[in-house]
Amino acid sequence: MDVTIFGTGYVGLVTGVCLAEVGNNVLCIDIDPHKIELLNSGGVPIYEPGLDELIQSNRAAGRLRFSTDAQAGVAHGLFQFIAVGTPPDEDGSADLQYVLAVAQTIAEHMTDYRILVDKSTVPVGTADRVADRVREVLAQRGQAIEFDVVSNPEFLKEGAAIEDFMRPDRIIVGTDNPRTGELLRALYAPFNRSHNRLMLMDVRSAELTKYAANAMLATKISFMNELSNIAEAVGADIEKVRVGIGSDPRIGYQFIYPGCGYGGSCFPKDVRALEHTARGLGYTAALLQAVEAVNFRQKDVLFAKIRDYFGGDLSGKTFALWGLAFKPNTDDMREASSRVLMEALWQAGAQVRAYDPVAMAETRRLYGERADLTFAADALAATEGADALVVVTEWSQFRSPNFDAIRSRLRTPVIFDGRNILDGPLACTAGLTYISIGRAPLL
Ligand code: UGA
Repeated sequence: MDVTIFGTGYVGLVTGVCLAEVGNNVLCIDIDPHKIELLNSGGVPIYEPGLDELIQSNRAAGRLRFSTDAQAGVAHGLFQFIAVGTPPDEDGSADLQYVLAVAQTIAEHMTDYRILVDKSTVPVGTADRVADRVREVLAQRGQAIEFDVVSNPEFLKEGAAIEDFMRPDRIIVGTDNPRTGELLRALYAPFNRSHNRLMLMDVRSAELTKYAANAMLATKISFMNELSNIAEAVGADIEKVRVGIGSDPRIGYQFIYPGCGYGGSCFPKDVRALEHTARGLGYTAALLQAVEAVNFRQKDVLFAKIRDYFGGDLSGKTFALWGLAFKPNTDDMREASSRVLMEALWQAGAQVRAYDPVAMAETRRLYGERADLTFAADALAATEGADALVVVTEWSQFRSPNFDAIRSRLRTPVIFDGRNILDGPLACTAGLTYISIGRAPLL
């Protein structure tokens, strides 16, 4: 089938490449000529495991093309995926200008039936706004061309996006037109073979499903972070509590890991946007407000522990940071807990020496050259002469370090583990103080 994707960001690229991989003829459109040039010369603008290889093989097979020519894009696909950004406005609502601009472009150029597929995470009611925009433009053109707008939210996890697309646990298709639903079912058939994972529903329910999923996951994390603070206060160990409650299948083990707060381009933005939507309709989403507030506070927990340990004076000290990205297997720094920590350390007059397997370039791009930020060649090198080691992102490669080597390099023998991934007792055996989240320090 012929598919056009508007937007070669994270969602658009993964969608385009995976649809091409199963044999569709995919044309990706972006207004940014540099991005298209890069993609057409074999480059990839983002880091995502497996993406590069799939882009190159599908380009070589002629099933995947990149262009800035929007008109050609509208002519190409029966399916017109809208996968452009929806950055948050000042007030937390999603900014729909890019989504509506694509709708406008499609309406300006379409000559026969098109299915507009909302893939970006968009507030409930956006499909109606997209349809209104298309109708307006068609009316101005004096054309009565048929079209449908479908909500088909993505559920990709950064770092596992290709796998999530290829083997989805659900494919949500929101449409009020059963015939369109069947066309989407045919497009998704290669990803839906072993048992039916495609759920057809009305447009608004599909739009809300996306927010509900992310808000639920964010709630689980904030709940555990809140509990971790209570555990510290009452002298309990949150990791034991986690295992204890996770064994109840109604609660489950996933997404109940306490830490130094959630980040990324989805949870913070989506929780705020849903809260904003509710508020706009006269409903105070008290739980969502609390999820956000707890996360905001949790991002300060590491700094507070460090400050307290050093008696309030951090000036002139150097901290080795392991992990900068908001989570492992990505270079994404959006709303990363590391940023809140680094900025607080700088404010307190401290230096940061950071190591991250992939996010150092992005960090340099964000903060520029500055005297209080340096990067280490590897994890161990970051600890050389540092006053303490702070683990911020749960990369696998940090999980079983050589504690003796760390001990001999640190000026003060202390580790702050913001993700509870290290073996605290083993660190202690090597002569290190181990301070983590939601449990007593090990001295
Ligand atoms: C999230 C959702 O997990 C995806 O299902 C969804 O499709 C995506 O948002 C989206 O809306 O596009 P993502 O933001 O890539 O995916 O990252 P997650 O793996 O969910 O991690 C989010 C944050 O939560 C990270 O900072 C991670 O460290 C933190 N986290 C996760 C915890 O603190 N504790 C946990 O138990 C799990």
